[in-house]
Amino acid sequence: MDNILSGIKPTGQLTLGNYIGAIKNFVKVQNEGESFLFIADLHALTLPIEPQTLHDNSRDIAAFYLAAGLNPEKANIFLQSDVAAHSELAIILQNYLYMGELSRMTQFKDKSAKMKEEAIGLGLFTYPVLMAADIVLYDSKRIPVGEDQVQHVELARDLVKRFNNRYGETLVMPKAEVAKVGARIMSLSDPTKKMSKSDPKGDVYLKDSVDVIRKKIMSAVTDMEAKVHYDVEKQPGVSNLMTIMSSLTGKSFEQIEKEFEGKGYGDFKRAVADVVIAELAPFKERYEQIVKSGKVDEVLAKGAKRANEIASKTLVRVQKAVGLYHK
Ligand code: TYM
Repeated sequence: MDNILSGIKPTGQLTLGNYIGAIKNFVKVQNEGESFLFIADLHALTLPIEPQTLHDNSRDIAAFYLAAGLNPEKANIFLQSDVAAHSELAIILQNYLYMGELSRMTQFKDKSAKMKEEAIGLGLFTYPVLMAADIVLYDSKRIPVGEDQVQHVELARDLVKRFNNRYGETLVMPKAEVAKVGARIMSLSDPTKKMSKSDPKGDVYLKDSVDVIRKKIMSAVTDMEAKVHYDVEKQPGVSNLMTIMSSLTGKSFEQIEKEFEGKGYGDFKRAVADVVIAELAPFKERYEQIVKSGKVDEVLAKGAKRANEIASKTLVRVQKAVGLYHK
């Protein structure tokens, strides 16, 4: 069984996009191999963040992982910064990725677009190097992510090919796994933009109350067509709500279109809100219990122990390959 790896950056509150595009799939695949599902806290430092916020968000993600159904007896849940090999390997791997490649990364271009060059931290630029280290450390072939992370996984694949060509088979080739529906959930206030962690109007947060979730979905931007029909170009808002409904219920777009034939957007939005609330409400209760139980630190410590075992072996393999190992 192939190892599975993925991570979430604790930069803000988790969104419905993170849930549908990532966490839901982590839960699905956690027993299909050994899984390493971590919190990318070092990556969160690539843009300014308050120390307390970083600390709290990191534990919060772990609690949400557990609330969503990750089983700490099976999945290894840990903080990236608790495994020093991530940083050590990144320092080695940075020599096999190039400025041109990193400059072409969409995430870097988006995040740095409005910044002056003097103010762009190097970590933001070298972000994919650390991410490649994350990916290869656990010999994982399967990397479940949302669509926006595929380019980074592709770069990690280029790196593995390059490294293995130069030094012989050392690193395992990873592959991004993207859900057929829901890999890119859009903002409710601007459905031409991805739902991201920093857009309170367009986001549904996993922490939002039932009332807030309903209100946000009821006021989601739609269009004048007044027809529940999947067409991303002409009806991006409705198509996004259909995607949310489809990914949470398993219903196809055709089934949804049929179900809401002749009905208005009000009815449709109410139904979407019902589906989202039914998915998230029980989950929120579990989340609160987990936070109260104080279990999170224990889970993170256990995950880090196992992660360190595997990661340090890969690091030694790489060190030997390049000629750095002298013990
Ligand atoms: P992050 O924290 O931005 O997002 C975490 C996961 O959620 C997915 N996602 C979405 N999926 C669907 N619709 C959306 N609107 C949406 N927004 C986010 C992301 O694709 C991702 O799968 N660089 C990563 C963290 C990371 C990582 C890794 C991931 C660090 N190292 C190694 C995989 C492997 C990130 O910032 O994800």
